[in-house]
Amino acid sequence: MGVKRFSVSVDYELFKEFDEFIKKLSLDRSKAIQQAMRIYLSENIWEKDLRECGGALIIVYKHDVREDLIDLQHYYRDVINSTLHIHLDEENCLEIIAVKGDIKKIKELSDKIKTCRGIKQIRHAIVEIFV
Ligand code: NI
Repeated sequence: MGVKRFSVSVDYELFKEFDEFIKKLSLDRSKAIQQAMRIYLSENIWEKDLRECGGALIIVYKHDVREDLIDLQHYYRDVINSTLHIHLDEENCLEIIAVKGDIKKIKELSDKIKTCRGIKQIRHAIVEIFV
């Protein structure tokens, strides 16, 4: 496929912070930008025209909402492979929900989790499944 060279304009402070940071990671600009582009694509994977995907939904919540979450996980059991629950402290829990299957259903599950009472944070790490 080859390599594409391009130039971009960015805010100077952002550039400086990024450049200093990647130096600490021993990454060159090309590698760092490629990683950032892949993360951006993964972050916005719902916008791609895909049927199947796999990955994890990572949520932090106050544990008194657990009933709503359990109901949702039972309903979406066909796309949930496993759930890992970690008690962070007296009131907060972290849950890693491993998912695989229909991307529309997984997006729907993620959107519904967002609306649950007590959800503090939700992130996803979703990758494309090549079939
Ligand atoms: Ni817990």
